[in-house]
Amino acid sequence: MENLIKDIDIIPAEEAQACDFKTTEEQNTGKQKKLYIESYGCQMNFSDSEIVASIMKKNGFDTTSDYEVADVIFLNTCSIREKAELTVRKRLSQFNQIKKEKPEMTIGVLGCMAERLKDKLLEEEKLVDLVVGPDAYRDLPNLVKGAEDGDKGVNTFLSREETYADISPVRLNSNGVSAFISIMRGCDNMCSFCVVPFTRGRERSRDPHSIVKEAQDLFNQGFREVTLLGQNVDSYKWSPEENNKARLNKQGEVSKVYNFAKLLEMVAKVDPKLRVRFSTSHPKDITDEVLYTMKAYDNICKYIHLPVQSGNSRVLELMNRTYDRDWYLERVAKIREILGEECGISSDMIAGFCSETEEEHQDTLTLMDIVKYDFSYMFFYSERPGTLAAKKYEDDIPLEVKKRRLQEIIQKQTQHSLERNQMDIGQIQEVLVEGSSKRSDEQLKGRNSANKVVIFSKGDYKKGDYVRLKITDCTAATLFGEVIS
Ligand code: SAH
Ligand code: SF4
Ligand code: F3S
Repeated sequence: MENLIKDIDIIPAEEAQACDFKTTEEQNTGKQKKLYIESYGCQMNFSDSEIVASIMKKNGFDTTSDYEVADVIFLNTCSIREKAELTVRKRLSQFNQIKKEKPEMTIGVLGCMAERLKDKLLEEEKLVDLVVGPDAYRDLPNLVKGAEDGDKGVNTFLSREETYADISPVRLNSNGVSAFISIMRGCDNMCSFCVVPFTRGRERSRDPHSIVKEAQDLFNQGFREVTLLGQNVDSYKWSPEENNKARLNKQGEVSKVYNFAKLLEMVAKVDPKLRVRFSTSHPKDITDEVLYTMKAYDNICKYIHLPVQSGNSRVLELMNRTYDRDWYLERVAKIREILGEECGISSDMIAGFCSETEEEHQDTLTLMDIVKYDFSYMFFYSERPGTLAAKKYEDDIPLEVKKRRLQEIIQKQTQHSLERNQMDIGQIQEVLVEGSSKRSDEQLKGRNSANKVVIFSKGDYKKGDYVRLKITDCTAATLFGEVIS
């Protein structure tokens, strides 16, 4: 889920380690004050920034794309790798100058780094006024008011219930066609390398009715694609009894457990013209029921992000992923059996985890040969303080070895992406248009069901249209097509 770089499917090593960020856009609804948010990390974080913008809008703030005119600057941060945190530290030092010139400006650090470092951040970064964790955003207007009166504030309370279900997000950086919907928060998995369970807290699922309503509202506004977001969407679980007793009593709803397959179906039924995507699927939890639901609905996109991390069972065990190589390959075989060759599959990989041998690294490469991913997000291992791996294992693979292994993984992925794209040539595919291609205004960019970008000549088509194309050419990252009438 890391690095939402929409046009780049395979992220080169340097870029994978750099942290891409998104900023707010200019929005003028006549509010008194200006808010600038810069968001780092995964789609969940970008989605949270939309919730933050919504909360702040109700409290007198329009967004701006220019931090120099902002009354409040928020950095919504990521802790997943060391590099992500260093990028934010560097950015804060750049904001030092502007804070000197405009001392009345409020600077807040939100998100995972705020949660991980808590008040230490206030001590270490003198210009920071607020440190606010992912479950405390309802407190932001309060904290900002305090900061305006000179009180620095920290709220890193992690909740077992907060899902922001009632908050209608302000869509930021949106192409007006596709939007994200958070369906759950937190993570209970405790993969040994991962900081997320510490920064996002316990897993909790959002009321399915509020999710369907959000999807319906988006469709009514002209959106044509929603992506359901969670660290592990397959463990989505909600029941009126467990999650909201009052609701059960009021509406007399029968006891019923909603799992991810059920939710997926409910969202798919909003409208056949609303595409549904989801991310991320954990290999231990993805069920046949989910795969059959995907098959049953044309508007559920045939694409699964199924991060493997390593192709070696011993390393997977150390990572505490709770599946092994055979389990993973069985799940992939099931996807192919139920959804066929054309279903897109992508992965995340970590090169050079603690004690990984050359042979074990080779297992990752051979697994890739078997699965043939359409694309992958690839990283070298970065030890995170406080995680199980940091406590139990030595980070003993030298950096140059990690980087070399990562290069080998990237090289293999590039080759597979090209092969998989070449298989599409000659096929007729339906694409949802997202806007102009970066290269030319005469060309449009859309996505096929398998999440691949397709470029084609504009004709009379526009953003939000569904277009049938014949795929004529490709690179490792992009398909090219021609409209068929
Ligand atoms: N919930 C998702 C992952 C979210 S984090 C899942 O379980 O698949 C996104 C990716 O960052 C992970 O899949 C992993 O490949 C990578 N990552 C997480 N912690 C890392 C670390 N300490 N070093 C390097 N990469 C890491
Ligand atoms: Fe991290 Fe594992 Fe949870 Fe993904 S499933 S967020 S890798 S702990
Ligand atoms: Fe996402 Fe980074 Fe936090 S990947 S959950 S913003 S640590």
